[in-house]
Amino acid sequence: MEQWIPIGYLLSAALFIFGLKKLGHPRTAPRGNQYGALGMLVAVLTTVVDMELAGDMEWTLIIAGLVLGSVIGVIMAVRVQMTGMPELVALFNGFGGAASALVALAEIWAYIDGTATPSTDTLTIAVIMVAAGLSALVGWMTLTGSILAMFKLKGGVSIFGTWYKTPTWGPTWLNPVKVALVLSVVALIYLSIDDPTNKQYLYGIIAISCILGIVLVLPIGGADMPVVVSLLNSLSGIAAAFTGFIVGNSVLIVAGSLVGASGLILTFIMCKAMNRTLPDVLFKSFGGSGEKAELTRTKVGSDADEVAMMVDGAQKVIIVPGYGMAVSQCQHQVKEFADLIAEKFGTEVKYAIHPVAGRMPGHMNVLLAEANVPYEQLIEMDEINPEFPDCDVAVIIGANDTTNPAARSGEGPLAGMPIIDADAARTVVIIKRSLSVGYAGVDNDLFYMDKTMMLFGDGKAMMTGLNNAIKEI
Ligand code: TAP
Repeated sequence: MEQWIPIGYLLSAALFIFGLKKLGHPRTAPRGNQYGALGMLVAVLTTVVDMELAGDMEWTLIIAGLVLGSVIGVIMAVRVQMTGMPELVALFNGFGGAASALVALAEIWAYIDGTATPSTDTLTIAVIMVAAGLSALVGWMTLTGSILAMFKLKGGVSIFGTWYKTPTWGPTWLNPVKVALVLSVVALIYLSIDDPTNKQYLYGIIAISCILGIVLVLPIGGADMPVVVSLLNSLSGIAAAFTGFIVGNSVLIVAGSLVGASGLILTFIMCKAMNRTLPDVLFKSFGGSGEKAELTRTKVGSDADEVAMMVDGAQKVIIVPGYGMAVSQCQHQVKEFADLIAEKFGTEVKYAIHPVAGRMPGHMNVLLAEANVPYEQLIEMDEINPEFPDCDVAVIIGANDTTNPAARSGEGPLAGMPIIDADAARTVVIIKRSLSVGYAGVDNDLFYMDKTMMLFGDGKAMMTGLNNAIKEI
């Protein structure tokens, strides 16, 4: 039986890798998810069999953990709104990091309470203490950083009915503090190699790592949050890989490394989308103060009939979806609009997808795929931007920061972020409830341009009204 254990781990690792490969395209992504889940099931079953064979199995604890975890997971998954998914993902990243750090802690704690004796081989003990220290550093930092990121995505926290906004704060003197905190953890890990049973080092590493998670995420705000969320995701995988070394579990090393590597690739994709480097995001505090711009200008709104008449004459329409489409869940009405104008007026329709539109990577692709929008019509920002000067109407649905020309000015929280060039279209229609700012808190000049028509209202109600108006033409 024992000879099947490595084969079970190999099979689960292979399923993870195939799953990741399939996640690379929206069409195959659901199958990729299923492969990943199956891989995890095989890994868990193999570990259970392995523990049973070794006589280490505590069935009561395992079943209690499974039941408790499943109940909490199901309640969270059922209750979460689609717009709350990014916060939930941020929280799960944090839990993943903390779980890895706790497993590593349990291994080291066995030395402290005397139930296990540290190896006499200095190299072995050095490897275990370094891996445990790094797992604690990354794991606890991921937990506190992710919880703060979750509140930043939410915009704040309600305590006894009073709403407190999540602060964005990062004076330049905080950068040497971050470096000093990392060096302190490294020093404590070094000291723990000589004295693995010393609790004080362990407590020090945990406390400093928790503070580090907060000071790393506190200065990041506004439009740069996508980078930090994907970085925390990557860190949760790295913590799991370190823990895999400590407990000698190969599939944990493989799965952790895959999450760490893919999360890091996503982080760099997000950095590219924001036109930043990772050190810039971590040390330069781009996100601004988190204050929302005060609005002083006004604009008269248009109505559905007026917009329908204008779309009637359009040869080319580009739809620009954003976070408001996710809030109002109007992707089906958007698809209906595209089909209607293509059939009725022969209009060419494309969708312009900004890499950070919405609140999670691929947010717009997921929603539009759910509404069966053909993948060929979803065009990425760099490819669609040159087409706007030839576009008769750009229809922006709940997008704000990702279309804000202020990003080109080189100043403010959006400075340098590439945007969808919707302002280059002949006419711009914007559907949102008010003139209010987007996630980064910056007023948008695009609303006030002469060629812009504002359709004020909820995305779903406005799209339904627009579709009805088109049907009546
Ligand atoms: P945002 O700039 O967030 O603007 C969304 C707009 O949607 C708001 O201005 C809001 O205006 C409108 N809206 C809200 N509810 C609506 C509804 N029911 N119907 C119609 N409109 C509604 O959107 P964006 O352009 O997609 O930009 C995304 C921002 O989030 C970027 O700054 C990005 O960096 C940040 N971010 C992204 C991610 C990822 S990974 N994608 C993660 C964290 C943060 P009204 O209130 O006037 O309706």
